[in-house]
Amino acid sequence: MSDMVTLIDFPPLGDDRGSLVSLEVNKTVPFDIKRVYYIFATKAGVARGFHAHKVLKQVAVCVTGSCRMLLDNGRDKEEVLLDSPTKGVLIEDLVWREMHDFTPDCVLLVLASERYDEADYIRNYDDFLRLVGT
Ligand code: TYD
Repeated sequence: MSDMVTLIDFPPLGDDRGSLVSLEVNKTVPFDIKRVYYIFATKAGVARGFHAHKVLKQVAVCVTGSCRMLLDNGRDKEEVLLDSPTKGVLIEDLVWREMHDFTPDCVLLVLASERYDEADYIRNYDDFLRLVGT
């Protein structure tokens, strides 16, 4: 796995009643969280993402189900299978991401370092490659 992909193990705080994961700023998540969203009920065969961000950083975790995330910094590409509520991936700025193979039950929870700003998106792959200088 390249330096581009940082997997984060969320320690499960389980007891005999079941499991719990706490996502805490500057402990499990390396930025101040300004926004939380989740992607769910993704239709069969649908892939999402296909963009990078200029500034935004995100941590993504499938709290149920799974999906495959492709990360690309313009030089290297890495795939991560998000298939556990205790495994997250940190997506830095200027990383192209695509999400594929959502299971029907998948809930992909995303913690974001910034509020929603369409101007922060790079939605064209050639623009992305130009910006990262490859
Ligand atoms: P988009 O980021 O394009 O989804 P994907 O994860 O597939 O790349 O977002 C889909 C739509 O939702 C788009 O019209 C923008 C809107 N949106 C918001 O309004 N707020 C948000 O926080 C997010 C993530 C998306």
